[in-house]
Amino acid sequence: MAHFPQMAHPPHPSQAALSQDALKTLVGQAALHYVVPGDIVGVGTGSTVNQFIDALAGIKDQIKGAVSSSVASTERLQALGIAVFDCAQVPELSVYIDGADEIDHQGYMIKGGGAALTREKIVAAQSRRFVCIADESKLVQTLGKFPLPLEVIPMAAPRIIGQFAAIGAQAVVRLKNGTPLVTDNGQHILDVTGLQIADPLAFETRVSQWPGVVTVGVFAYQKAQVCLLGTAQGVKTIHFSNCSDLLAVRAEPVEALPMGHQALRQAQGERDTTV
Ligand code: 5RP
Repeated sequence: MAHFPQMAHPPHPSQAALSQDALKTLVGQAALHYVVPGDIVGVGTGSTVNQFIDALAGIKDQIKGAVSSSVASTERLQALGIAVFDCAQVPELSVYIDGADEIDHQGYMIKGGGAALTREKIVAAQSRRFVCIADESKLVQTLGKFPLPLEVIPMAAPRIIGQFAAIGAQAVVRLKNGTPLVTDNGQHILDVTGLQIADPLAFETRVSQWPGVVTVGVFAYQKAQVCLLGTAQGVKTIHFSNCSDLLAVRAEPVEALPMGHQALRQAQGERDTTV
C-alpha cells in the first residue's frame, strides 16, 4: 500500500458544506493510499474515478501504469501521460479502484451507470482488492433503488424485458440522442426499476444465466473489500468481511446441492419467471 502523507484525510469541520463533487474529489485523492508503488493499477469509470485519475497523474512516476475499464477512462489516463496496458496482458492486479451507483453494508454494489459494467467486472475479477470510492449518497441498506443496468445482446432485449415484467420490474433500453446507447463492446444497456435486491449473490447468479445477458450490474461476486465514503465528516473507510459467503458458494460441488444435479439441470432448463 502506498503512503502519501499529503493525502491523509482527517475529518474537517468545513467539510460539512462540501458538495457532492467535492466529496468525489476527496475520495478520489484518498484512494491514492491503496495504490501500490511500481504496480499497474486497475482503474474504473465515472465522475468519481475521474477525480482519482486526476490525482493519480500526480504520482504517475511511481506507478507502471493502469489497466482501464472503458474507452473514456483510457483517454483520460493517456491524456495525463499514464500508460494504459491491455487487460489481457496483465494476469493480476493488486488493486482496482472504481465508483458505484449503490453500495450496501456488505460491499455488494450496483454499477453500470456509465455503461462500462462489463469491462469493470472483468478488471475487478482480475484484481486482488476492490476499493470502491463513493460519496455517502451511494450507501444503501438494500440494493435496487438505482435503476439496475444490464448489458445485453440487442436481439435478446425484448425477451429480457419480458422476463423482468414477469417479476413486476420494468426494464427499458437506455437511449443516447434518441437511439439505443451502444457500449464499448457494441451491445445495449437495459435499466431496470422496481427491484429490491435482498440477496445480491443469488440475483447475480440467476440473472447472469438468462440468454442474451452479457453482464448484470450487480457486483456481488466482485464485491468491494474497502469503501472510501465521502461524508460531511470526511472520508470514512469501511472494510467488508472477507467473502466467506462467496467462498462457500464457489466451493459447493454440484452433488452437494440439496436438489442434486439432476434436479438442478431441470431447474436450469426451466423458463425463468422469478429471481
Ligand atoms: C460506470 C460505473 C460508475 O462507477 C458508477 O456509475 C458511478 O459513477 P459516478 O462516479 O459518476 O457517480 O459503474 O459504469
